[in-house]
Amino acid sequence: MTTQKSTQHPETQALHYRINNAATHPVATPIYQNSAFSADSPYFYTRKSNPNSVELEGALAILEKSEHVISTTTGMSAIMLVLQLLRPGDHLLINQYIYGCSYKLFQRYATHMQLQLTILDLSAKAGREAIPDDVSMVLFETPTNPFLKTIPIRELAEIVARKNPAALLVVDNTWATALFQNPLECGAQVSLASATKYISGHSDVMGGFIALNDERLADELLQNRFYSGAILDPNSAWLLRRSLHTFPLRMREHVRITRGLYEFLLGRDEVARVYFPETSAEQLREYGGILFFEFSKAYQNGYTRFRDALTLFDSGTGMACVSSMVAQPWSGSHASLCDAEKIAMGINTDLVRLCFGLENEEDLIADLKNAFAVLDA
Ligand SMILES: Cc1ncc(COP(=O)(O)O)c(C=O)c1O
Repeated sequence: MTTQKSTQHPETQALHYRINNAATHPVATPIYQNSAFSADSPYFYTRKSNPNSVELEGALAILEKSEHVISTTTGMSAIMLVLQLLRPGDHLLINQYIYGCSYKLFQRYATHMQLQLTILDLSAKAGREAIPDDVSMVLFETPTNPFLKTIPIRELAEIVARKNPAALLVVDNTWATALFQNPLECGAQVSLASATKYISGHSDVMGGFIALNDERLADELLQNRFYSGAILDPNSAWLLRRSLHTFPLRMREHVRITRGLYEFLLGRDEVARVYFPETSAEQLREYGGILFFEFSKAYQNGYTRFRDALTLFDSGTGMACVSSMVAQPWSGSHASLCDAEKIAMGINTDLVRLCFGLENEEDLIADLKNAFAVLDA
């Protein structure tokens, strides 16, 4: 698959991207809910590819500015397929601040596959200077979960290329999204994401994808997906493709609301610190959706009462959808880590994650004000 060269914006191209439906001309591609194709079809078997996954991948490739996209059942299966590029003895480097399940997967996979695993704070210069010479793959999120720290992709790509030109720089682009950050343009070899989050946006479908330019690697990943059966089913691919139509619209609204709520939180006595990532023309052009804050000293241990007082925020590990969510990383996204690992990551029970949906900003502020007031009662 090759991205089209066009003067149109990526979001316009992605919206109009269609597989060949010449026989029926539907305005939206239907669900191809079939596993098998006849011998004269350009498709082979849905475990290999399907019109719905191919159309989704084409649209995502436009947004990621990549030559190839490989869609997967979940974000974790996208990470797993990429890990399968490593061989026993290879050296995997991950960032210290990372989604809890990814962290656990790296630990488990490194043990099972006899990989060397190094964990550094790549948002700090000292961490980047400590990158080992024999590094094979560097995998990180930027902005990070938690704390929304920035890892400079281009600088890291240059350092890693000097250490080992064959090493792969892999960015988990879930939180930034392809609309606001294009890791491949910054020098990464692979950009992957959980499509369960903003691409779906409606908390009703799971998916993941891997974007890259290298044809040989793409071929290997496609083979790994075919043999492991990690492809998206047609119905999920169709839902994600449908959600993608409103993705830029939703993201811009997430940005507007998040900026407003950031200002609101900065002014609250109950809040000691609010985390918002650095944006720049070079890397993360805009940001919206998820913020973290820490309760100030006088309000410590208030999370449960605060959460229970909110009426517009569902609690749980889900996020990045049309309705707002509140979570405590300690007991949610990072629950699979032991207490010592969480403390080493800087996570405590007073760290709160807020993910803003598409409710009216004034209603969200009123709901938060009310929940803060409960802490004073
Ligand atoms: C940054 C990041 N990467 C990957 C994943 C895993 O995605 P999924 O839940 O679709 O497997 C998540 C899930 O929260 C995530 O936040």
